[in-house]
Amino acid sequence: MTALDLSSPVAVVGTGTMGQGIAQVALVAGHSVRLYDAVPGRAREAAAAIGARLDRLVEKDRLGAADRDAARARLLPAERLADLADCALVVEAVLERLDVKQELLRELEDVVGEDCLLATNTSSLSVTAIGGALRNPGRFVGLHFFNPAPLLPLVEVVSGSASDVTSATRAYETARAWGKTPVACADTPGFIVNRIARPFYAEAFAVYEAQGADPATIDAVLRECGGFKMGAFELTDLIGQDVNESVTHSVWQSFFQDVRFTPSLAQRRLVESGRLGRKTGHGWYDYSEGSEGAEPHTAERAQPPAYVVAEGDLGPACELPALIREAGIQVREEEEDHGSRLVLPSGGQLALADGQTSVEFRDVVYFDLALDYRRATRIALSASQDTSPQTLSEAIGLFQALGKQVSVIGDVPGMIVARTVARIVDLAHDAVAKGVATEEDVDTAMRLGVNYPLGPFEWSRRLGRNWAYALLDDLHLRDPSGRYAPSLALYRHAYATDKREGSTS
Ligand SMILES: NC(=O)c1ccc[n+]([C@@H]2O[C@H](COP(=O)([O-])OP(=O)(O)OC[C@H]3O[C@@H](n4cnc5c(N)ncnc54)[C@H](O)[C@@H]3O)[C@@H](O)[C@H]2O)c1
Repeated sequence: MTALDLSSPVAVVGTGTMGQGIAQVALVAGHSVRLYDAVPGRAREAAAAIGARLDRLVEKDRLGAADRDAARARLLPAERLADLADCALVVEAVLERLDVKQELLRELEDVVGEDCLLATNTSSLSVTAIGGALRNPGRFVGLHFFNPAPLLPLVEVVSGSASDVTSATRAYETARAWGKTPVACADTPGFIVNRIARPFYAEAFAVYEAQGADPATIDAVLRECGGFKMGAFELTDLIGQDVNESVTHSVWQSFFQDVRFTPSLAQRRLVESGRLGRKTGHGWYDYSEGSEGAEPHTAERAQPPAYVVAEGDLGPACELPALIREAGIQVREEEEDHGSRLVLPSGGQLALADGQTSVEFRDVVYFDLALDYRRATRIALSASQDTSPQTLSEAIGLFQALGKQVSVIGDVPGMIVARTVARIVDLAHDAVAKGVATEEDVDTAMRLGVNYPLGPFEWSRRLGRNWAYALLDDLHLRDPSGRYAPSLALYRHAYATDKREGSTS
């Protein structure tokens, strides 16, 4: 099955933000494109807006003037749905309401030919439910573009229960021919990206709600330690708190209020108060004129320890002893069966965040998971009220000697990055086990759709196969609500690995 022939006209119905973007993509790829919108005059305005964007591409030397002129000539606003009769593909990007989309599809089915592929750009409705309106739902798929469609490469090609394989394959190949990176996925709440990305926001908000740290500190740790491009607070301020919350809400409702997707009370309050982010001048942060940007907590300089004793295998943090030596601090390595930690001269210990709390142990300071301990410019430490000041000071001094800023946060199990990554890895395993997508497509979708530095499976392989399971198991013990309960898929993954490696750990 191949992509649609370039000689086949494509139609976009609903010419708002997404419709215009999708139309531009199809147009630049070489198709004739028809635009239709329910509001009279809007398709014509959309054609003008797309034309202006093509002009800007020409100015930036990203499109030739002749190609622009040819593209403009291929772009036709339509007055009536009947004008789409000869189209080989119709993508709808109308209002996000099931009844509206179903009604439109019923009308379209009477207009277009038998072979016309029909697609929806819905982000939160079920493709199967929308397609239920059609006499032939086999020809109907989801083509979920991301905003702005001309710039973002990812397209989730969603197969509803009744979609034909041939329709999905044709949509997939067409998206690829349009220069996009398609991933195939099943019809599930949030598809791939909006399902697996939920903990990125939820865990940041949960740490805040637990008084673990303020938004600026959590954002700084996610960026500078976790390697994410933006923190959850600044990103949701950019997206709009109302928009981000409504995706969370819709995924949570669609999963019958599965506790793993529970929305955040703190975000609810923000939305209720009209603090929607940058667009209203205030969200988690204040964007009004004259307001000073919030600074993350950064520890004062402390004296580094003269030496550390590295016990056991530090797992994802195994690079640390070498970095500590490079900083001129002596490291004595000792085999240790009972734990993996750095022992400080105070007698206190530093351990990688593992889903336990500092207060449960005598003088333990946790440090957060870094994407790359060498490159990280900030490390979070968590300590309890009982931690000795000397141990905390040595821990701070140690990471400062490695050139890192240090943020001390509250005694939150799983800290910030570790719990976030563990939950993303878990939801990714769960999704693949439930047939949502392949591991490869999940990794591609999360890297391209939300800019993660690594795909969840790539990350999981780096961290060690049962790292996420062990962390979530510990977290689940401390919060038995079910929110952190590792999925059966993750359990199987960890257990199968242990068997293969002949290990009992
Ligand atoms: N905005 C995003 O970031 C984004 C991203 C991915 C997917 N989506 C999805 O894309 C779709 C459109 O979203 P948008 O942000 O472009 O909305 P929008 O409000 O910018 O545009 C919707 C357009 O559809 C038109 N319309 C409404 N009902 C119609 C009908 N029955 N027939 C023809 N036209 C009709 C409206 O007049 C409007 O021009 C939604 O399903 C949304 O979930 C949006």
